[in-house]
Amino acid sequence: MKICVIGLGYIGLPTSAMFASAGHEVVGVDKNQRIVDALNRGEVIITENGLAEFVAEVMKTGRLRATTSPESSDAFIISVPTPIKEDKTADMRFVESATRELAAVLKKGDLVILESTSPVGTVDSLMKPILEDISGLKAGEDFSLGHSPERVIPGHILDELVHNNRIAGGYDSRSAHRIAELYASFVKGEITETDARTAEMCKLSENTFRDINIAYANELAKICEKQGVNVWELIKLCNKHPRVNILQPGPGVGGHCIAVDPWFIVEKEPSLATMIRDARLTNDSMPSYTTERAMEILSGTDSPKVCVLGVTYKPDVDDMRESPVLELIERLRDKGCSVVAHDPFVAGRREDILADLSEAAKGADLLILGVNHSQYRQLDFAALAETVRNKNFFDTRNFADASAAAAAGFKYYLLGNRA
Ligand SMILES: NC(=O)c1ccc[n+]([C@@H]2O[C@H](COP(=O)([O-])OP(=O)(O)OC[C@H]3O[C@@H](n4cnc5c(N)ncnc54)[C@H](O)[C@@H]3O)[C@@H](O)[C@H]2O)c1
Repeated sequence: MKICVIGLGYIGLPTSAMFASAGHEVVGVDKNQRIVDALNRGEVIITENGLAEFVAEVMKTGRLRATTSPESSDAFIISVPTPIKEDKTADMRFVESATRELAAVLKKGDLVILESTSPVGTVDSLMKPILEDISGLKAGEDFSLGHSPERVIPGHILDELVHNNRIAGGYDSRSAHRIAELYASFVKGEITETDARTAEMCKLSENTFRDINIAYANELAKICEKQGVNVWELIKLCNKHPRVNILQPGPGVGGHCIAVDPWFIVEKEPSLATMIRDARLTNDSMPSYTTERAMEILSGTDSPKVCVLGVTYKPDVDDMRESPVLELIERLRDKGCSVVAHDPFVAGRREDILADLSEAAKGADLLILGVNHSQYRQLDFAALAETVRNKNFFDTRNFADASAAAAAGFKYYLLGNRA
């Protein structure tokens, strides 16, 4: 089959390479000329485990190439961004423009699949009318259409693309079946056929489930601080129950999925999605809550200087999108702190994010662990003690070695515990 994948980012590029590796002819399309040129040279400009090697290997087969606009194909996959607007509604501009562009080359018998995470009704109400108007063809009769959401986790994308279970949501049952058949060319997980609206809602509900669970952990953290309980110990004990699995609290929820997708449900049913909205707001309150605790630790300190360890939205990745730690830094600055960050994954992307920890920590009155990057498990507290002004360490992830901190003379503070 000839497959056109529109959007060559974290999702579209690995997916293109998978289809090409499975024997299909793949044309990857991206508006960003830099991405297109790099791919045509066999290079990858995003960081993802094993991706550069895999793409280089696939390029040798001659079955993958890149260009800037869709061309006539048997199947189209849309994997463009679906960010959120200021008013917390989905920004569907990219899906809309990708749909328009592919509609111009759509022909009888083609298959169109939306992979981007989207509000319920995107396939039926946004894509179908555009595709039908521009092509003059009829969905279900002349071409197939549907949604197959992506569930991969950055860092493990290649493995999860193959092994995760997948949903094939069709505009009609034939579309669902064709989608399932196409992905079966490389997916080893179970592929379940359903309708497009259910598939759209399914992706949003999965991420919302996680967001609500984290909000519960964050709410417990606040309650535990008042009640003289260590929330981390509490959650560990609760999770010994065979049917309980509470996630971890922290300084907020980031990334462009869990912090965004619940709003796509709220947007459709604002008066019903009350718990979903509250959970979002609870998680969004954590940078401010964390700032308040930091300021309490710093009370009485003149011209306080803070060093934040880790600024990405989760550990061991180079992605800062929607990171709550960035908001924490801004809030600390608003309170009059001078703030420098350390992060081995994104050092240099901003002037205030340094690669050298002792330089970042120089003269600091407070070190805040914002992200549980693996390397922070074994911090050299003795060396840090030499460089800071005041030995205060605030762990928002229950991750650093508290006894090593204490042994080096640091006062160790933990989010979710004042006991
Ligand atoms: N990254 C993840 O871990 C992940 C996981 C599950 C779902 N998703 C969803 O997948 C979708 C894509 O996410 P991503 O992380 O790959 O985004 P990304 O930003 O990494 O890549 C998207 C690419 O699409 C390109 N693009 C935008 N409009 C275009 C157009 N009209 N024509 C051609 N190219 C266009 C951009 O230049 C960009 O390179 C989003 O809806 C996201 O929510 C992402």
